[in-house]
Amino acid sequence: EIRKRAEELLAQMSLEDKAGQMTQYDWGFNPINPETGLSQRDVLLEQISEGRVGSIFNISGVEEANQLQKLVLEKTSSAIPLLIGRDVIHGYRTVFPITLGQASAWNPELARQTAAAASREAHADGVSWVFAPMIDVTRDPRWGRIAESLGEDPYLTTEYAKAWVEGAQTNDGPGLAVASCPKHFAGYGLTEAGRDYNTVDLSDRVLREVILPPFKEAVESGALSIMASFNEINGIPVCANRYLLTTILREEWGFEGIAVSDYNSIQELIVHGVAADEEEACLISIKAGLDMDMSSGIYIRYLPKLVREGKISEQLVDQAVLRILAVKLKLGLFEHPFIEASDYVTTGALPEAHLALARQSARESIVLLRNERNLLPLNKAALSLAVIGPLADSRQDPLGCWAADGRPDDVVTVLDGIKSAVGANTTIHYAAGCDLTSQSEAGFAEALDAIHKSDIVVMALGETFEMSGEARCRTDLDLPGGQRKLVEAAAALGKPIVVLLLSGRPLTIPWLLEKADSIVQTWHLGVQSGHAIADILFGDYNPSGRLTATFPQNVGQIPIYYYRKKTGRPPGGIYTSYYIDSTTEPLYPFGYGLSYTSFKYESIACKENQISKDDSLHVSIDVTNTGSLSGEEVVQCYIRDESASVTQPLKKLIAFRKIKLNPGETATVEFQIKSSSLAIIDADMNLTVEPGYFTLWVGPNSSEGESLRFNVVD
Ligand code: IFM
Repeated sequence: EIRKRAEELLAQMSLEDKAGQMTQYDWGFNPINPETGLSQRDVLLEQISEGRVGSIFNISGVEEANQLQKLVLEKTSSAIPLLIGRDVIHGYRTVFPITLGQASAWNPELARQTAAAASREAHADGVSWVFAPMIDVTRDPRWGRIAESLGEDPYLTTEYAKAWVEGAQTNDGPGLAVASCPKHFAGYGLTEAGRDYNTVDLSDRVLREVILPPFKEAVESGALSIMASFNEINGIPVCANRYLLTTILREEWGFEGIAVSDYNSIQELIVHGVAADEEEACLISIKAGLDMDMSSGIYIRYLPKLVREGKISEQLVDQAVLRILAVKLKLGLFEHPFIEASDYVTTGALPEAHLALARQSARESIVLLRNERNLLPLNKAALSLAVIGPLADSRQDPLGCWAADGRPDDVVTVLDGIKSAVGANTTIHYAAGCDLTSQSEAGFAEALDAIHKSDIVVMALGETFEMSGEARCRTDLDLPGGQRKLVEAAAALGKPIVVLLLSGRPLTIPWLLEKADSIVQTWHLGVQSGHAIADILFGDYNPSGRLTATFPQNVGQIPIYYYRKKTGRPPGGIYTSYYIDSTTEPLYPFGYGLSYTSFKYESIACKENQISKDDSLHVSIDVTNTGSLSGEEVVQCYIRDESASVTQPLKKLIAFRKIKLNPGETATVEFQIKSSSLAIIDADMNLTVEPGYFTLWVGPNSSEGESLRFNVVD
């Protein structure tokens, strides 16, 4: 039915109308042209009314969205509503934790809910296309966009990709509310030296084993579009990469949605040096399989000409337009081009249900890294507390990167959260102490005075919202500005110290272990930051977050990730794979995180210690809460193929379960491991299960656990 309607529409369209549908512009970018005196928007308005634009993004709300739709419907002969895009990365007005934080919750179902809530808010504000989820697997915390990612693991990212796409595209009414756009396809997260937009060189094996699985899952979960990444991959920029955009995406996976470029990246084919000029950039991209041009305007300028000159067939253009029309039809845009203004997204308070979700998501995102002598949780009844640090009272930074629709006024700061949690008999002494961009010690005295007056010190440190995200790469991953010196001065006073790390990435902080009794990785947690942090500090929520990105000891270890190979000479003596000046072990491994209670793993067993290649393996383990508080544990299951035709990672996450246990309670956690989880890509690039021995671990993180061996036979 949709295909038929799309074809009927296509039959009425001129070549310019078609190229218009394949063109997207940034409404938020509005420079004045000095020669004409016209603003970019003046020009766009004219192009929209001539049917030369199929999609825009970065509009400022529902009124603007409706005005632009009205323009299209009234002025253009084809009357095809615009797709209205937006970077709804970790929330819309209700800002949830950054994606890396949400991943640390190991709770894809919760992410499904945050994605759905964000889409609902965005849709009520005129948006029909969210540029999310970001599912680039990355192994480099220098890369600023690690904050937007789900971390280093392909399996975990794949689980989130599915939940996120389905959540974002939740079908609430007639048609889908919004289309999702998994990004950035592909390899962007393996950018060389962790520098944004940089060269990516990776084997087909790593591509297919590590990078592509989340995208394939997103496609299978019904994603209506996909965004091509900025980077080149093995010498071919993605917008020119037919292998990725056609062979894999269309032919192997059968993807029928829209493939859109990233910002101006068709134009950048010239800068990469693979196109001589705009016309060639256009030709290469359309041939590679890219349906929509974000921002450059090259498709509308050159596609009609290329067809008329016979350099490309009109059929190639038609195919892309049909995909775009199909998405618009699936979204119900033709039936409902206008959105009715809804109060809360523009001016009013955020919806209670979304705030509750934001608090839950934020507390589950927090990872307790260290808790000497069980300093945490603190007793909120009677205390004298110093709340110190440049991020303690910040409203902007907890929103994190890519939170343009969030409002700082909606943020509960760390200080607000602590104040509203403690009892009347608790005194709080607050001082910022230093800032994040200078080494100035001007604020130290005030901070040290506050500490003198207090029993316990809570320090809110980390990175500003502008230190992670796109084009925010760092080579020094220590605490920036005067923060390290401030901690050292504070520690000299001998009071118990809790450090909260509000950062967009793992930091290299081995020295901090000498200074702080407790370290809590809070990330940038969104609007409910302060409440969620207070929930953890005072034990109203028992921390359950686990790292999804390895914490290095130092920058020199990067890339460091758990899914690594053994090498012929694993570390352990001279002439082995080690550093002469650093350990090869991370500061905190993938999957790591503490709780206020303790868990014991025992009695790992599998029903059969020999299975055939097509069988599943049934594994069970008893997990007991051996502490005195109830708490959640992320039970993680890893595997190693001990001897395969192609070298395999030391460990590979293949399943996990988050469980809640009361003190003294034992759960028997069971995993049904399908043989597909044991498959490797062999030397001929076939996915296959090879006979031989496997080791399987179930445990609390990638470095610990109970293990067993089993055999796979032909
Ligand atoms: O969606 C983003 C992308 O992640 C980076 N470049 C700009 C796009 C649109 O804002």
